[in-house]
Amino acid sequence: MDLSVTIGSLHLKNPVIAASGCFGYGVEYAGVVDLSSLGGIVVKGLFLEEREGHPAPRIVETPAGMLNAIGLQGIGVRRFVDEKLPELRARNATVIVNVCGTTIDEYVEVSRILSDADGVAAIELNISCPNIKEGGIQFGCSLSGTFDVVSSVRKATRLPIFPKLTPNVTDVASFARAAEEGGADAVSLVNTFLAMVIDIETRRPKISNIVGGLSGPAIRPIAVRMVYECRQVVKIPILGMGGIVDARDALEFMIAGASAVQVGTANFVDPFIWPKLLDGMRDYLQRHSLARISDLIGTVDVESKHKEWISS
Ligand SMILES: Cc1cc2nc3c(=O)[nH]c(=O)nc-3n(C[C@H](O)[C@H](O)[C@H](O)COP(=O)(O)O)c2cc1C
Repeated sequence: MDLSVTIGSLHLKNPVIAASGCFGYGVEYAGVVDLSSLGGIVVKGLFLEEREGHPAPRIVETPAGMLNAIGLQGIGVRRFVDEKLPELRARNATVIVNVCGTTIDEYVEVSRILSDADGVAAIELNISCPNIKEGGIQFGCSLSGTFDVVSSVRKATRLPIFPKLTPNVTDVASFARAAEEGGADAVSLVNTFLAMVIDIETRRPKISNIVGGLSGPAIRPIAVRMVYECRQVVKIPILGMGGIVDARDALEFMIAGASAVQVGTANFVDPFIWPKLLDGMRDYLQRHSLARISDLIGTVDVESKHKEWISS
């Protein structure tokens, strides 16, 4: 059975990727997971310089999910290249770096540094973090901002670039199109949904940033719908995510149109999830007599559902 998929020029041994911010810099999990067994690892978002992020509390559980406002704490791109990348390379991990910026110049500079480093497979452009005030999501909530960041980074690197889209917009597909027009090789979606949790006894918000990003199974059907909508309007591949906890969920994203999937919050619940996802995918292929997982991408059968509805 062939689980491999291609994302532009990038060939992945399977479509299961660890999502940014939920898998550290990858090396932290090396004792638990064979990093080379994953389709890829998207490391925590990196700016040019180190960042502390927001004060605690930064996370709260919600029904079927969690709210976070970490505030993009990170070690900065140069320390990542010096301290983390060599080990990731030695462990044969397919490394995708989540690139952040407060200005377009910063996105370009971080991407340049990564292009010159050995062992980076692709860049995921984070224009969608809901938890920082400057840059980031402001680009991702504007069609021209999305185009400008993507096209500027495009000129600065030959690495594949995957802008990561925010779901906090009315028409996510138009942002996928702006990214495609800017020269993106694929789009990642979705980042977290802007949300809020209040302690009714103290009447205070539960996290220090007041609002944060909602992730986990609670968001999955919305994320699947967004992947489906984007699939209708762009030709570039989609990396789909949002609430995946098992192989069934991952396959749902692929049938909706994703060429690969990312798994975030579920890794906090079960760090041993990765082989289970891959086994579940193989089992599905066997049950459906399919030789290649790539044959499933975008195969949602909307026509038959229409006919069924008309004849009932
Ligand atoms: C604690 C936490 C930190 C995150 N940090 C990042 C980040 O640095 N960059 C990014 O693009 N997305 C970040 N995300 C978003 C996830 O990568 C993913 O898009 C989102 O959580 C939806 O997937 P999930 O429901 O499987 O977690 C973070 C999510 C969580 C829960």
